[in-house]
Amino acid sequence: MAKTKHIKYERVQHLPNVFFPEGNTLVDFPWQTGDTRGIILELGCGKGEHALALAALYPNCLVVGVDIKSHRLCSGGDEAMARDLDNLYFLRTHAAALAAWVAPGSVREIWITFPDPHPKQREIKHRLSAPDFLAMYATLLRPGGVVHLKTDSDSFYGYTLGVVTDWGGAIKTRTRDLYRAGALPAGAVGVCSAFEQKARAGNRTIKYLKFTLN
Ligand SMILES: C[S@@+](CC[C@H](N)C(=O)[O-])C[C@H]1O[C@@H](n2cnc3c(N)ncnc32)[C@H](O)[C@@H]1O
Repeated sequence: MAKTKHIKYERVQHLPNVFFPEGNTLVDFPWQTGDTRGIILELGCGKGEHALALAALYPNCLVVGVDIKSHRLCSGGDEAMARDLDNLYFLRTHAAALAAWVAPGSVREIWITFPDPHPKQREIKHRLSAPDFLAMYATLLRPGGVVHLKTDSDSFYGYTLGVVTDWGGAIKTRTRDLYRAGALPAGAVGVCSAFEQKARAGNRTIKYLKFTLN
């Protein structure tokens, strides 16, 4: 294991804005305690570049970056403290377990940013827009709450367009080239994560979808 990774695994355990569900119940988290601010989730947030930007853009909302890999959350947690973002938290969990840690009907937006594409047929259930995930998102979202997807993967974009429609959701915005499209949310166009930088450096266009599920 790289030395910095090892240090981050240890360090992240002590950050006050990074939460580990083990041993906690729903009521132990800051986003459960009767807070009426809308929650914005970033799923698979990695180092949390989008979560950091969303927290700054929407100071009246509570942003939670979610990732399974805690050493990545360490960077976001440190940066949030350096920027004094007290409306931003990170949660180390598998996205499939989210319903145990986030109250139903409390979420106003979900951002899925550069998800692992899981291209193989046998991996479909792991895609963050697979039907079981959509069903869970629909319970977490407030009525009319939206899901945003940013991806450089043509196949993930095409898959999500189809699955959202088949599931009964409504596509509100779609583009295969985010930076050539018209006016889009600041959270989509104003942030470029490390994964996005790599995609753009490789001349891959960034696809964007906005949809509702309830
Ligand atoms: C390609 S990276 C993108 C990171 C970040 N969103 C960005 O734009 O730079 C995908 C991230 O999703 C996380 N991830 C993959 N599957 C996940 C899951 N089921 N639950 C939570 N995080 C997941 C990975 O650990 C990784 O950090």
